[in-house]
Amino acid sequence: MSAMPAPDLPTLRWGIIATGLISSWFVKDLVLDRPDAKARHIIKAIGSSSREKGQVFAQQYCPQEPPSIYGSYQEVYADPSVDIVYIGTPHAFHVRNCLDAIAHGKHVLCEKAFTLNASQAREVFAAAKDRGVFVMEAMWTRFFPLMRDLQVKIHEENVIGRVQRVFCDFSLDMDIDSLPDDSRLKNPDLGAGSLLDIGIYSLTWGLLAADPNIASKAQMPSILASQKLANGADVATSAILSYPNGVQSIVTSSLSFATAPQFCRIEGTEGFIILEGPVHSKARDGDATAEARTFIFDKPGMGFYWEADAVAIDISEGRTENEIMPWGETIRVLEILDEVRRQGGARYSCD
Ligand SMILES: NC(=O)c1ccc[n+]([C@@H]2O[C@H](COP(=O)([O-])OP(=O)(O)OC[C@H]3O[C@@H](n4cnc5c(N)ncnc54)[C@H](OP(=O)(O)O)[C@@H]3O)[C@@H](O)[C@H]2O)c1
Repeated sequence: MSAMPAPDLPTLRWGIIATGLISSWFVKDLVLDRPDAKARHIIKAIGSSSREKGQVFAQQYCPQEPPSIYGSYQEVYADPSVDIVYIGTPHAFHVRNCLDAIAHGKHVLCEKAFTLNASQAREVFAAAKDRGVFVMEAMWTRFFPLMRDLQVKIHEENVIGRVQRVFCDFSLDMDIDSLPDDSRLKNPDLGAGSLLDIGIYSLTWGLLAADPNIASKAQMPSILASQKLANGADVATSAILSYPNGVQSIVTSSLSFATAPQFCRIEGTEGFIILEGPVHSKARDGDATAEARTFIFDKPGMGFYWEADAVAIDISEGRTENEIMPWGETIRVLEILDEVRRQGGARYSCD
């Protein structure tokens, strides 16, 4: 029999905005029975463009404790039993959804890319500061134990000496030509493009492997970028981040083919680390002569609960930002994405 989380754990009551793919993944993980959970999560409300869609979603993903189902997002923001709104809409709507939720005094966990550009993110964080609510970009992979262990190995234990170069790719075969024009992966009005959808992950590994610091403490690399565009959205992006100390991170993304399993290589003066596997589950280190060591990071479900538990702990302790993904880090990443798009040519109407 599996153990339930202890009753005195921080408890968060969630309102879910949108019933697409990512909301289904997130909610499935949130309701997982985890003996080692650091927080208790209750799905209180689902908001969708249609009540029927909301009902189907709730029946499928939260059968144990049926939430309130609303045919609008506004009703979720207004529901007094909701503490925090999870936003799983296409990124073009994130700024509006965040501002609306904050205006109702709700905490917010918003999917990546947090907004279309850095200026929109600044507007959201200014509103959150005014209302005193918690807001975080849902960069879930930053909360993986693998990510934190890797940073210790690279930057504290120096297992590969001094980092010299990082290669990271995240590409998916999305068969873009076959998608309808209103697909969020094709329509720039919905925030289409490989960079904000998946290139943001390559960039994350590229930044965290090159520099132990984040947000305002991190070094700002110079950027050289190129994009392949179709109908104004990037179907492929490549960027070189060059640091003042000579380290380079080469980060790439594409919507035309799938990344090889070994999606990231971190090279140092005394060896290299290779990251591989679906949803970043394995790390190997070695050098040309020594036997490689493999570290496997197993997890139940997909691993969205790590960020959700962190959010619950922050809110229960009165914080409005998370130290792993603070507001300044979201803004730093978006500023880099803005610059990559400025050089590469992908534009959104809000730029
Ligand atoms: N963390 C991750 O691993 C991950 C993975 C995939 C996606 N994401 C992020 O999650 C967000 C949503 O991606 P997704 O793959 O879940 O998208 P999706 O499957 O297309 O779902 C998006 C949902 O947003 C709502 N929506 C509101 N206005 C819309 C419009 N004009 N067009 C389309 N949908 C609209 C719809 O829900 P209702 O009809 O119910 O309102 C729709 O089902 C994106 O920002 C993406 O970057 C994150």
